[in-house]
Amino acid sequence: TLPIRIAPSILAADFSRLGQEVKDVVDAGADWVHLDVMDGHFVPNISFGPDVIKSLRPYTSAFFDCHLMISPADPYLEAFAKAGCDGITVHAEAGAHLHRSLQTIRGLGKKVGVTLNPATPLSVIENVLDDVDLILIMSVNPGFGGQKFIPAMFDKIRAAKAMIGARTIELEVDGGITADTIGAATAAGANVFVAGSAVYKGDGVTAYRENIARLKQA
Ligand code: DX5
Ligand code: ZN
Repeated sequence: TLPIRIAPSILAADFSRLGQEVKDVVDAGADWVHLDVMDGHFVPNISFGPDVIKSLRPYTSAFFDCHLMISPADPYLEAFAKAGCDGITVHAEAGAHLHRSLQTIRGLGKKVGVTLNPATPLSVIENVLDDVDLILIMSVNPGFGGQKFIPAMFDKIRAAKAMIGARTIELEVDGGITADTIGAATAAGANVFVAGSAVYKGDGVTAYRENIARLKQA
């Protein structure tokens, strides 16, 4: 079985000092760093792109878990790979040729991820299960941090876990993860937990360490 991992989303960090915020959260016990890329088209918000990720790369050797909320994604996959992402996750809804996008990420030598909006059924990834290293279940509608976990997603996580079967695939959940929701998400079968606002509150390493410890406990 795969380890439990906490993947803080830097979307909730102080953007004016992002390098230090990445370093602090890793020093505080983060397993992965979750990078939310938004284009103002696929989702109604704009965050940052590959140049920002490239500038963060020297601050840590931690796994950069890149969540692309962009459409189309294909023209930018190489740029994100070169920027230093370790895993690249695309939305199944972001293009007509999901299998091609996944093969492209594989060809770039990165961990391959696929994600689904809350309303998208798991059946759309049924035929690409052997092409992915990670499945991300969105537990909020993507675009913003600080939203509430959609309870119907617990069943979806359970179903995804069953669908994965004996395969070695990370099962990640993103949105509204707090000490109140992480336990049930773990019980449902997820092992990677994205948390933005629950980790980046308070000031610096000491606060972040307490926040991460609280999530791991719960
Ligand atoms: C939503 C992003 C999430 C989000 C998580 O579009 O993909 O990663 O920032 O933030 P919280 O943990 O605050 O829900
Ligand atoms: Zn995300």
